[in-house]
Formats: sequence, C-alpha cells, structure tokens
Amino acid sequence: MEILRVKGLKKVYPMKGKKEFVAVDDVSFEVNRGEVFGLLGPNGAGKTSTIKCICGLLHYDDGDVWVNGYSMKDSRRRGLRHISAVLEGNRNIYWRMTVKENLEFFTGINGFSPSKSKERMEYLLHQFQLLEQRDTVVNKLSRGMKQKVAIAISLVTDKEIILLDEPTLGLDVGMSHELRGLLKTIAKEEGKTILLSTHDMQVVEETCDRLVIINQGKTIVHDTVENLMRLTNQHFYLLQLKNQLTSEIKQRVAKIAKAISLRNDTNNGYTYLITLENPNGLYDIMGMLRDSGAELRFIERTNNRLEDIFINLVKEAGNHEISS
Ligand SMILES: Nc1ncnc2c1ncn2[C@@H]1O[C@H](COP(=O)(O)OP(=O)(O)OP(=O)(O)O)[C@@H](O)[C@H]1O
Ligand SMILES: [Mg+2]
Repeated sequence: MEILRVKGLKKVYPMKGKKEFVAVDDVSFEVNRGEVFGLLGPNGAGKTSTIKCICGLLHYDDGDVWVNGYSMKDSRRRGLRHISAVLEGNRNIYWRMTVKENLEFFTGINGFSPSKSKERMEYLLHQFQLLEQRDTVVNKLSRGMKQKVAIAISLVTDKEIILLDEPTLGLDVGMSHELRGLLKTIAKEEGKTILLSTHDMQVVEETCDRLVIINQGKTIVHDTVENLMRLTNQHFYLLQLKNQLTSEIKQRVAKIAKAISLRNDTNNGYTYLITLENPNGLYDIMGMLRDSGAELRFIERTNNRLEDIFINLVKEAGNHEISS
C-alpha cells in the first residue's frame, strides 16, 4: 500500500557566522499508493525543504526517504525513477518553447517511443484543456496556464508519484477550482500518488485524504482530513453586523462561544468569526444580538473550517506570526 515513506527527516542549513538552522526536524509520514497527501504549514514551516529532500534536490542530515522501497540515501537513482516534481516557479518548463514542444521534449528525453509519446501528449493536452494553447510559447501564457503546463509535464513520463509544491499559489478562484478538479482526476483515474504542499485549505479539504501539518520544521498533526475536522468538533460561523460589538456584548457572546474574533471591517460592516462547540449556542447568540439592537447583515457557516482549525493548531504550537 505504502509507496513513499519519510522517517525522521532532518534538514539543517548552515548559516554563515551564525548557528546552523534546522528547517526540517524529525518529520515522518507515509503516503499510500493512489492517495492525495497534504503537507501543510505556515510560511517557513519547512514544506519546500521537505519536498526537495524527497525528490533528491537537497541532501538531508538525518532520517531517510524511501520511494517505492528504495532508500534515497542508498539508491537515489532508482528512487527517482518513480518521482516527478513541480517546484515553486515552474522551473521544470522551458518558457521559450511552446506547450507542445515542452511536452515533446520531456517525453523524448525519457525515451518513450514516438507513438506512446504522442498518445500521452494528446491525452494530457485534452485532459488539461490546453489544446488551444498547444502552439503558444509558454512565456505568453497566464500564470495559471503555466502551472497547468508544468503539472501536465510532470505527468508525461507516467511516474507513479507526483510532488507538487504549492500547486494553486497565486491562482484566481476559477483556475484554482479547475486545478483542484484536475488533481482529483489524476489521482482517481490515473491512480497517481500525489504529495502536495499548500497554504490553501480548500485544496486540502477538497482533494486530500490525509495530511501532516508542520510548523517550524516539526510535525504538529498527522491524520486524515476527515478525522481532523471531526476530532476538533467545532463549528464556525461568520456573522456580519452593521456596527462593531461593544465589549460587553462580546464578553456575553464569549460565554457561549468557544471564541469570537473580528475577521474584518469594511464599509459593509463588521465580520466576526464565531467558533462554537455546540451549534445550538448560535440561537442564544442570535437572541442576544437581537435584544441588544445589533443589525445583522448576513450569517453563514464558513467553509474555511480546516483553515480555522489550522490557525488554531499553529497558534497552540506557539507560532504567534499567524493572524486570524
Ligand atoms: N538555502 C537555505 N539556506 C538557509 N535557510 C533556508 C534555505 N532555504 C530555506 N531556508 C529556511 O528554512 C526554513 C524553511 O523554508 P522552506 O522554504 O522549506 O519553508 P516553506 O514551508 O516552504 O515556506 P513557504 O510557505 O514560505 O514556501 C525557512 O525559515 C527558510 O528561511
Ligand atoms: Mg515553500
């Protein structure tokens, strides 16, 4: 079942004139064949370093990585035969070549027969909806399109494991949605194993089966996405009010809710995030707000539940740079 194993991984960066920096500190997880596995963490948590260690771009200082059973310490070349990676900045594509030329080049250097290359290329152009852009120079494509090309290229060689570092970073809502769909298809229809790093909780909620959350190089959670959401047993609501709540009302709400925090204030009003352990508490809060004369603009159950869980977990782990 397991196709990738990371055990006790440690990456230390030497720092000129300063104490060395431990970027990845005893990180362990296993990824099963055909699953989408998420690597989450705030900026600087060690996600990219972990991915670079797994795909052999960085030497690590302790622990090991096994790819399809091959230790990347002892049998790096054999392990690499099973991995494709798309790192930050899409450096796996040639920006001065067209989409088609890129795909041809990468199938070519991997020694595929011309007919197999062509078949795979056509399939991917179709799957990634890149048929119209096939003769466009990559440089001229939008960021989202470039990202699609980069991921398509990681698939031309038909490796079992795909590592994606922040695949939806900087993409607009539509393109991010399209990519999430593609990732699910790749895993389901092609049986690929995907390890992706992200900040985007929607990506995790929609595509990942399991995840690890790392913070300052250390694992703080290793679980299924489903369990994480169930175990925390919290309900999140966004309430927008015309006026800011007085501290007295806030204190009264805080007696019912696990937490209340101001998310943002705009011309439209003040949006509060309310965390409840018992969703029925919402009725009491609404009654209290009505009696106090607060004007409700809208209320919704937030779909960022995982994001809120993530923020709370990282806060608990002691990173004070995260702001909600
Ligand atoms: N070559 C390097 N030399 C020294 N320190 C480094 C080097 N590369 C990364 N780091 C440090 O290691 C830590 C982890 O970096 P890494 O890029 O792995 O984090 P990340 O989780 O990918 O962050 P981000 O979300 O910003 O991409 C950071 O504090 C970073 O500054
Ligand atoms: Mg990174």
